[in-house]
Amino acid sequence: MRKVTVTGSKTYDIIIEKGCMERVGELAKQVIGVGKSILITDDIVDGLYGTIVETSLRSAGFDVVKYVIPNGERSKNGYEFLKILNYMAENELTRSDAVFALGGGVVGDLAGFSAASYMRGIKLVQIPTTLLAMVDSSVGGKTAIDLPAGKNLVGAFYQPDLVLCDLTAAETLPDAVFADGCAEIIKYGMICDEEMLEKLEGSVHEQIGDIVERCVSIKRDVVNEDEHDHGLRQLLNFGHTPAHAIEQNSNYTISHGRAVAIGMAMITRACLPEAAEKLEKLIEKYDLPTETDYTTEQLVRTALSDKKRKGNTITLVVPEKYGRCELKKITIDEIAEYFRCTKKQ
Ligand code: GLY
Repeated sequence: MRKVTVTGSKTYDIIIEKGCMERVGELAKQVIGVGKSILITDDIVDGLYGTIVETSLRSAGFDVVKYVIPNGERSKNGYEFLKILNYMAENELTRSDAVFALGGGVVGDLAGFSAASYMRGIKLVQIPTTLLAMVDSSVGGKTAIDLPAGKNLVGAFYQPDLVLCDLTAAETLPDAVFADGCAEIIKYGMICDEEMLEKLEGSVHEQIGDIVERCVSIKRDVVNEDEHDHGLRQLLNFGHTPAHAIEQNSNYTISHGRAVAIGMAMITRACLPEAAEKLEKLIEKYDLPTETDYTTEQLVRTALSDKKRKGNTITLVVPEKYGRCELKKITIDEIAEYFRCTKKQ
């Protein structure tokens, strides 16, 4: 069993192991004790793992109610959020009870924000089932819902009590969903780990335990230093400013991982053209896109509603070299320059 411990405002373990989902009841009981719990998941993940998790929780002594959302980013809204809170109240969950978030990034964000908000915060266990959620969104306590004006515009920093990354779930994902996770792994390589970029020339499947542990450890180090995203943590947003604009323009039909892949390629073509071709080749190896049909003007307009904007400036993550990024504060008039390479040169 691999274990990475995060020590920010709350100390918690991330357990990385094949089959750990089947032991969620026993593992969670050691950390949070038993009580009432709400299992929040989506309609696809429920069919795959809902019974396994519910059975494990019940055998450990948890009382379980379940709430299932329709899968996809469109469920990450205020309406679903309030429905969940009402369901928690109807089932008389108290401050000593727990939310179990079983699913990908959408479930993790929505369930995490529900845990953060209900009675000003109840216990939270994240059980990410996608590679993307394992390496990024389930760790570090960012929780959110979207507004029509933009992605993740309402949310809270709320650290979980435990994260369980069951590698069997990652290994059995459909290829396209697995590839979405690879985009975030490439992101970690680009921001600070050239060795990871080399590893990615091989097969992620064959090195899955090492890669998930490495990504989570990078994220742990960053979050320990800057939990609330005032500085260093912003590096984790490499490619994300154009990516959020692409996702929003597509009405979320382009997945987060694909949008991040395009965003990283766009920014690299604009800032470090000598590394762009190498990065594009790596992204394409994972069947991820590097170009978008949206125009620079469309993407800039959307990006201006991004929460990373501060008055007339925005902090962008730009590559200094292949395997290292830095933060750069630019004015909103300069964004178009960084978003100009929507296509390969
Ligand atoms: N996904 C970026 C972060 O957690 O800060």
